[in-house]
Amino acid sequence: MDKPINQYAWWQKGIIYQVYPRSFQDSNNDGIGDLQGIIQRLDHLQWLGIPALWISPIYPSPMADFGYDIADYTGIDPIFGNMDDFDELLTELHNRDMKLILDLVPNHTSNQHPWFIESKSSIDNPKRDWYIWHDPLPDGSPPNNWLSVFGGPAWEWDENSKQFYYHAFLKEQPDLNWRNEEVKQAMMDVIRFWLKKGVDGFRVDVMWHMIKDKQFRDNPVNKDYENHMADYEKLLPVYSTDQPMVHDIVREMRAVLDEFGNRLLIGEIYLPVHKLVTYYGHENKGAHLPFNFLLLGLPWDASVISSVIDEYEGALPENGWPNWVLDNHDQSRITSRVGFMQAKVAVILLLTLRGTPTIYYGDEIGMRDVPIPFNEVMDPQGLNMPGKNLSRDPARTPMQWDDSLYAGFSGSRPWLRIDKSYARENVAIQKNKPFSMLTLYHKLIALRQSEPTLMVGDYKPVYSNNQMIAYIRHAEGSSRFLIVLNMSHRPCYFKPQHEVFTGQVVAATIPELEDMRIDGDINLSGDEGIIIKLDN
Ligand code: GLC
Repeated sequence: MDKPINQYAWWQKGIIYQVYPRSFQDSNNDGIGDLQGIIQRLDHLQWLGIPALWISPIYPSPMADFGYDIADYTGIDPIFGNMDDFDELLTELHNRDMKLILDLVPNHTSNQHPWFIESKSSIDNPKRDWYIWHDPLPDGSPPNNWLSVFGGPAWEWDENSKQFYYHAFLKEQPDLNWRNEEVKQAMMDVIRFWLKKGVDGFRVDVMWHMIKDKQFRDNPVNKDYENHMADYEKLLPVYSTDQPMVHDIVREMRAVLDEFGNRLLIGEIYLPVHKLVTYYGHENKGAHLPFNFLLLGLPWDASVISSVIDEYEGALPENGWPNWVLDNHDQSRITSRVGFMQAKVAVILLLTLRGTPTIYYGDEIGMRDVPIPFNEVMDPQGLNMPGKNLSRDPARTPMQWDDSLYAGFSGSRPWLRIDKSYARENVAIQKNKPFSMLTLYHKLIALRQSEPTLMVGDYKPVYSNNQMIAYIRHAEGSSRFLIVLNMSHRPCYFKPQHEVFTGQVVAATIPELEDMRIDGDINLSGDEGIIIKLDN
């Protein structure tokens, strides 16, 4: 902490909560969540202490990839409501002093977007160059070996114009050509449209995909590929993603946000740390927060996690603000990856590390991945690569609000089935239970948001071994905190070497540990984690 707390930006002090709109709350009983539904549930989010919402795409879309295939960047899909509903949501949020972050999907459009329809209509259409069209090789095959993230080749043949177009995802999601100046200007206008409405920021979808190799060279083979992995991982996407010129675009996006002031630019980027941090941009003029997905893919092992935290902290550019994520709508839920008890340890980690945390809806009640029978699978990634357990549906099931039919999510059968345990595990029930996940989230958020040290203070590793990790958060003129997390199921023992820590436990995975005095050694049972407010 190198300046007074009030000089930090809202998104540095804040917490982001991701809403997957299809699954949050249905207000019109069509089985699909919508904007009015989100409005109805703002009380919950306010009670929980959430300062900022990020909502996955709500724009008009044929829903081939559930909204990540956009047919109109400045409208609202009727399934979610209309522009009045959107304006109401934004006003309601701002009235509560909460922020709204939209999902922006600039890498590709829907194949139903008028831009693509025009582009496809003929080889000399003025919008032809807005997408990535390429002649076949002399033998008629695709221009190169690039693969689609969702399975199969990334090139789709257009019989009419006798060319291929490139799609990093579904063939219904053609990639825009970001080397084309008009494309860039059109998307900057989209950004301005929403910023003028008062939107507080964007989460930019697949930011590292936006520019591809100009020469379209073949991607090399991934020698570490194993059969259970997605087909896409057979190659290393070194020519199809993360090209240097992408940083120019990110900088331009950021400049548009800066025209308005006080807005946030997040980038969805799955890259190793040393590449990820380049997205902060030269002199931090790139993304404010390149999403940090490190905790998502690693084994839940204290020594691994502690060294990765240090690696990340060490790699950050000066004044680059950190951020942490446990899961999202594309990944397994944290509860399913590490188990219910460790999910409590995980949220203490998330909410006490240095940097902005993002919480995925439903994690606050410990929602699990829900097994979706084959004949009910909706996600194209699951449908295209059956048998590999790659469907993202399990992490996208309806929010469990109460024990009524359909869990209070909807009055009719939801688009995805609800966890069978919903009558036991829901917001209404957990709200009154001292041992519940929800109570823990509520306490941790309140603590974090009332302690400048936890919001913006420095991070210092203290100790770690194969079971546990301990670190300190400190800030001049504010309380000091020691966090000790047992990431194993067995008891662990912490004998501090250089300092005798004394203080009081202010939050813990279980209420029995709260208010306990600490004086020297710390012993924890399996799956326990504590936050200690130190005496000095
Ligand atoms: C991002 C989104 C994911 C989507 C993909 C294509 O990774 O998070 O849900 O399928 O981009 O837009």
